Amino acid sequence: MFLWGTATAAYQIEGAVAEDGRGVSIWDTFAHEPGRVRDGHTGDVACDHYHRWREDLGLLTDLGVNAYRFSIAWPRIQPDGAGAPNPAGLGFYERLVDGLLAAGITPVPTLFHWDLPQALEDRGGWLDRDTAERFSEYAGVVAERLADRVPMWITLNEPFVHMAFGYGMGVHAPGRALLLDALPVAHHQLLGHGLAVQALRAAGAGQVLITNNCTPVWPASDSEEDLAAAAAYDALHNRLFNDPVLLGSYPDLSAYGTEVEVRDGDLATISAPLDGLGVNYYNPTRIAAPTGDGLPFSDVGVTGYPTTAFGWPVVPDGLRELLTGLRQRYGTALPPVYVTENGCSQPDELTPAGVDDQARIAYLDGHIDAVERARREGVDVRGYFVWSLLDNFEWAEGYHQRFGLVHVDFATQRRTPKASYHWLRRRLAGGDRPP
Ligand code: NOJ
Repeated sequence: MFLWGTATAAYQIEGAVAEDGRGVSIWDTFAHEPGRVRDGHTGDVACDHYHRWREDLGLLTDLGVNAYRFSIAWPRIQPDGAGAPNPAGLGFYERLVDGLLAAGITPVPTLFHWDLPQALEDRGGWLDRDTAERFSEYAGVVAERLADRVPMWITLNEPFVHMAFGYGMGVHAPGRALLLDALPVAHHQLLGHGLAVQALRAAGAGQVLITNNCTPVWPASDSEEDLAAAAAYDALHNRLFNDPVLLGSYPDLSAYGTEVEVRDGDLATISAPLDGLGVNYYNPTRIAAPTGDGLPFSDVGVTGYPTTAFGWPVVPDGLRELLTGLRQRYGTALPPVYVTENGCSQPDELTPAGVDDQARIAYLDGHIDAVERARREGVDVRGYFVWSLLDNFEWAEGYHQRFGLVHVDFATQRRTPKASYHWLRRRLAGGDRPP
């Protein structure tokens, strides 16, 4: 069965941040610090999904998807990041999972979508190796409760973005701007992934994936300097997170004058076989020689394409290029691939007639076609998840970027399916055929 789904994440939709024993996450702290998130927006209420999940499940059912990717908020399960689980937190996800199963929708939970318990950040967060052990303990606790019903698990979401934005540049929680000193965050997340795979397997979990943000890297020219810069960027953004998991080795990071500190056995743990690779794709990246800011590359931007409300270039064929490129690079080491996120923010306008988001329809149509081309070229793609079901809290942009198939009026919490929702529903009505 090809998985057709939508994706969301806990902090971006749930709200109810102080309910039923939920602990504080780094995103609660960060969003409440003045100047961190545009216009001071926070996820305190978000889409109020914690209370309205039945209505949202109805939207999924009417849409006709056969899968739903959501994330589990670690601070709801272990408010302080360790120890005995909070029954109310587990209960919430258990009800959601049971509701999805009753509706014939495969639940695909992600265990970590950036909302680390603040108590763990206070002890160093992902800079501290112990966080990997804590993550594995948490994974085990959740799996013990849900492994009998959940057929597919994702350990981490986009560890590259969490490292680079959260610990490298400080534009996401926990807001640390350590530049290249953030590198241990990569290794500890990957180790956490590997240890979590062990915990999930021990609890009898079905399929296990990791989701990486991947981008085709386009050198700005054929000059030696631009080609070397592009290779360095590719090593950091793509290979740093795919190579250890799929090949059991780190890429060459010498351009950064740094190395990952690896202990005996770590790479064996990290490279335990997976049942799939989750790939989030938004756009390609154009890279030129360094400008002297200390990094071995400069991001010069992709031009000549339409852009989303975020200003991101719309390049559907980049998804085909990415998928076929993964196949070329990893060969038989590449497990089945799932596009676990793809979508766009648009300047949607709610009128009495609804939201006529033709640009989103064109975006999704083009990218689904790109998946089809990649499959024809031999890449084993088994799923496609739209980011996102609902307009939601877009991290540092707050509620300013709308990615949903469903419009959310954040003042009233009214949901209005957009034209793209109706378009996808018609497209899925033919069954669960691959694109
Ligand atoms: C990827 C992230 O996983 C998700 O949380 C975010 O909202 C989308 N990209 C859009 O930026």
